[in-house]
Amino acid sequence: MKHNKSSSGMNIRNNPLIQMKNVKLELGSKAGKVDILKGISLGIYSDTSVAITGPSGAGKSTLMMVIGGLETVTSGSIIIGDENFSLMNEDALAKFRRDNIGIVFQAFRLIPTMTALENISIPLELSNDPNSNEKAKHALDLVGLSKRMSHYPDQLSGGEQQRVAIARAFITNPTVLLADEPTGNLDQETGTKIIDLLFNLQSCHKTTLILVTHDRSLAERCDRIIDIADGQIQSDNNRLV
Ligand SMILES: Nc1ncnc2c1ncn2[C@@H]1O[C@H](COP(=O)(O)OP(=O)(O)OP(=O)(O)O)[C@@H](O)[C@H]1O
Ligand SMILES: [Mg+2]
Repeated sequence: MKHNKSSSGMNIRNNPLIQMKNVKLELGSKAGKVDILKGISLGIYSDTSVAITGPSGAGKSTLMMVIGGLETVTSGSIIIGDENFSLMNEDALAKFRRDNIGIVFQAFRLIPTMTALENISIPLELSNDPNSNEKAKHALDLVGLSKRMSHYPDQLSGGEQQRVAIARAFITNPTVLLADEPTGNLDQETGTKIIDLLFNLQSCHKTTLILVTHDRSLAERCDRIIDIADGQIQSDNNRLV
């Protein structure tokens, strides 16, 4: 079930939609254990936009994976709406993700054997939407790729793949849209168009938009900027709280 989005805009101060408490993530590598997230606590309200910034290796993508329920934390808690990730089994988490979360991965993660249109349709088909084809065509049009509908990912440029990944993430009107460097592969003009589109969708659907970016001007367009360094929050302008 979709989490109810606030209809009263961002001045209402109920509980934050996303609540992270002292989240730590430790991963093993050949060189031994690495502390990647070192105790992140933050609350993010619905219907707001948040930029995550910080140097390479800071833990930004990992933080997105954790909020998206794709990485299990070592300790601490993540609650989105009424759902506590640590109390959910894999099936429940997968269903929650499908119904509430859209993710644009840094490396796109398109399915190579599916065309652009098929890639975009996947989330709708998983939820048995009878209009998946029409909606996918519309989404492809919104990102300026209607002429690339039948192309496979390896027949698309990096920026085109990125736009397919973005369309796939917003097509279900998710409660939370996570976008990891969504303009990283786009020229200035296309990047601006895509970002305008994301902010438009954010305000139309009262989505909570969280994006990782190295682009200061893009970060400044968000309601809030959280800077991460070495797995910890370095600064948080927390403008809306
Ligand atoms: N599976 C893993 N095992 C061990 N270490 C990992 C693993 N995945 C990521 N890391 C380490 O975690 C740290 C954070 O990685 P992450 O991808 O979150 O950084 P980032 O802030 O997104 O960087 P970038 O701006 O380069 O995308 C890095 O030092 C990385 O090497
Ligand atoms: Mg990253």
